[in-house]
Amino acid sequence: MTFDRRVKIAPSILSADFADFGREIQAIEAQGADWVHVDVMDGHFVPNLTFGPPAVKAFRPHVKTVMDVHLMISPVDPYIQAYADAGADVLTAHVEAGPHIHRTLQAIRGAGMKAGVALNPGTPAEAVAHVLDLCDLVCVMTVNPGFGGQSFIDMTAKVRQLRSMIGDRPVHIEIDGGVTPETAPKVVEAGADVLVAGSAVFKGGSVSKPEVYGENIRAIRLSCDTLV
Ligand code: DX5
Ligand code: ZN
Repeated sequence: MTFDRRVKIAPSILSADFADFGREIQAIEAQGADWVHVDVMDGHFVPNLTFGPPAVKAFRPHVKTVMDVHLMISPVDPYIQAYADAGADVLTAHVEAGPHIHRTLQAIRGAGMKAGVALNPGTPAEAVAHVLDLCDLVCVMTVNPGFGGQSFIDMTAKVRQLRSMIGDRPVHIEIDGGVTPETAPKVVEAGADVLVAGSAVFKGGSVSKPEVYGENIRAIRLSCDTLV
């Protein structure tokens, strides 16, 4: 994985057909996805359950780009090695998931993955000020995590603040929740480079109508094109 700040679209397979993940992943990549975003939920940190390490391991051979695993679980540390073994490229933990985010990020890198830290909408940018040298990605949640298809909560000021805190460090800013062609330009202008989109990519398409995924991905990309 080489670092750059070009806009990357990361469809969230939370909006895919859960009985057909392999073909869904192949379809979004063939239609222009830059990364594949995998939402892990535990029914405890967030009020919803998705899947765990064995499922993520089964996705791995289908992902040719970057497998971006977003853990909405608590605790995180006992599961880090399992996600490394499952083949995650980026592993993101929430700063709210426990008292020791510093140790968690060190452990993620120690297991050979890129380390991400996510902030809920109510969490200030300052919460990650002292771990920016330990992470490769900061994920700014623009919904309260747990479900796809929620409306965008404007976190533009937080993104701008993080962009200035990050400075020259090779750290991505990812936006997760409610990303559409209408909301994407604001956050890209503020400094984000990875755009997670679930419903906005999968709506209207399917593995037998994959060209709709392509149109949806292009619509998000084009909405930001004049800005970068
Ligand atoms: C929310 C997840 C998101 C979600 C985004 O808890 O972390 O990745 O799937 O879905 P949309 O784009 O539909 O808001
Ligand atoms: Zn996510």
